[in-house]
Amino acid sequence: MVKNDTLAELEFGYREEPIQLSPFQLRVAAVPESWSIALTGGRGGGKSYSIATLIMRHLVKYGSLGARVLFVRQTHQGCEDFVLILRELFMKVWGPSVRYNANTGIWSGFPQGGYLEINQLSSYAEYGKFQGRSYSMICCDEIGQFVTDELINLLRSNLRGALEVPKRMIVASNPAGIGHSWVYRRFVLKANPWRPYDADGETWVTCPSTFEGNIFIDREKYLRDLTAACAHDSELARAFISGDWDVVRGGAFFAHCLDAARVMFPAWRLPEGVTARAYVRPRPTRAGRGIRLAEPDVEGWHFWITMDWGYSAPCIIYLCGRSPGATVDGRWYPRGSVLLLDEISTAHTDQLHIGSEMAVADVALLIKRMCAQYGISPAGTCDDACGIRNQDGVSVVDTFATNGVYFRECGKGSRIGGWTHMREMLNDAGKLDKPGLYVSDAARYFWSTAPFIGRSMRNPEDLDGALDHGVDAARYAIIQRHNPKPQREF
Ligand SMILES: Nc1ncnc2c1ncn2[C@@H]1O[C@H](COP(=O)(O)OP(=O)(O)OP(=O)(O)O)[C@@H](O)[C@H]1O
Ligand SMILES: [Mg+2]
Repeated sequence: MVKNDTLAELEFGYREEPIQLSPFQLRVAAVPESWSIALTGGRGGGKSYSIATLIMRHLVKYGSLGARVLFVRQTHQGCEDFVLILRELFMKVWGPSVRYNANTGIWSGFPQGGYLEINQLSSYAEYGKFQGRSYSMICCDEIGQFVTDELINLLRSNLRGALEVPKRMIVASNPAGIGHSWVYRRFVLKANPWRPYDADGETWVTCPSTFEGNIFIDREKYLRDLTAACAHDSELARAFISGDWDVVRGGAFFAHCLDAARVMFPAWRLPEGVTARAYVRPRPTRAGRGIRLAEPDVEGWHFWITMDWGYSAPCIIYLCGRSPGATVDGRWYPRGSVLLLDEISTAHTDQLHIGSEMAVADVALLIKRMCAQYGISPAGTCDDACGIRNQDGVSVVDTFATNGVYFRECGKGSRIGGWTHMREMLNDAGKLDKPGLYVSDAARYFWSTAPFIGRSMRNPEDLDGALDHGVDAARYAIIQRHNPKPQREF
């Protein structure tokens, strides 16, 4: 008994069970076996399960003739997910005699013979392990997770072997992955669904699906879950739900959350000599009989600056304030809300993607002037690249420090995660009980770029990079490595 195959223990209860296919999967099964298949479409359409049934059929029909199947995914976790699908399927059909060895990734014990290997492939270096090996069927799930089609093309060269066994590749992908653009061009743009076409000397068929055709899931619940998972990105929801590949053309990145009516506020007009801290101090109102009422001020505002540094690209700086839960100029900002109060931009006014090549000392001067106006010390966070030292051992952060402006790198983490958080906060702007991100009308660069930024062609979950300096600096403002005051103390 293979030690790590837990299913082997179920041997006694085994009864052969029929497998059922959805209409989509039946249609995929009807595609001639020597044609390669691209399974495209939204989430949950039954693509992975479809691959599993095709693998099984291949092994049954051609096992005795030397069928060899390779399944690859980019991550180990992905491979394990697929092993679970195979286990379920193989158990139904063959019972526990078919076993998986998790150490080698190889299945054994097929009644008709045949070879099936599950392996992980994420980089060019890893392709080495497949070099010189032959397979009659190569399956690659979630190809949208590959940045280019290079590895898929390399794998194609392993498709060879006995003449009697048909050879094919099967790939599957959802829209909106990092490889969205090449998958779209290669398998969606020119392909008529379910019709054969030639690509690189092979015949391919593109088979689209959506969860609506998957009769094996609770579709109402699945729709609810998908919608909730993409709550702040309705374009992504569209891609996942209806399998649309035109998300990249589907409008601006912040279109659905950046509503100026909720997010924009009139810049604070501090009277001469009044600091920001004094300006936001709760004002008591007379309630008669000598009683004066004011909002509690147990916790103060926190002010700081954030910067996305650029020399030939624009350098954008925001003066930010975090609200303790307070009303300013008649507007309520729930606790934790972040306000971009003022902006410095070195971009050319008519060429927003070009910076005016200002030296650190000059930018530092502008920052100090802005901070002095608000009575705030010139300190805050900046992009991680500013911490990198040049050949003289001096970083941009160091140079700013010698000019009296103090930054630390914000440790920005994943961009995509940052955008999701930013969307959430923009979306929550204007709500009474949730912290939002608010941007003053003084932030000219922000308002002339952010509403129009498109999606990245390469990765639709990210945005198009040319004018991202303003939103980058805004993103640094909402990144908090830790919350110094998770709860109020009374
Ligand atoms: N023929 C089938 N019999 C039983 N269950 C099925 C069948 N086809 C699909 N399912 C179930 O439907 C769900 C979604 O299927 P699957 O994972 O294959 O979809 P997918 O298109 O690969 O999804 P994703 O886009 O998330 O990768 C799974 O839970 C799977 O077990
Ligand atoms: Mg899948």
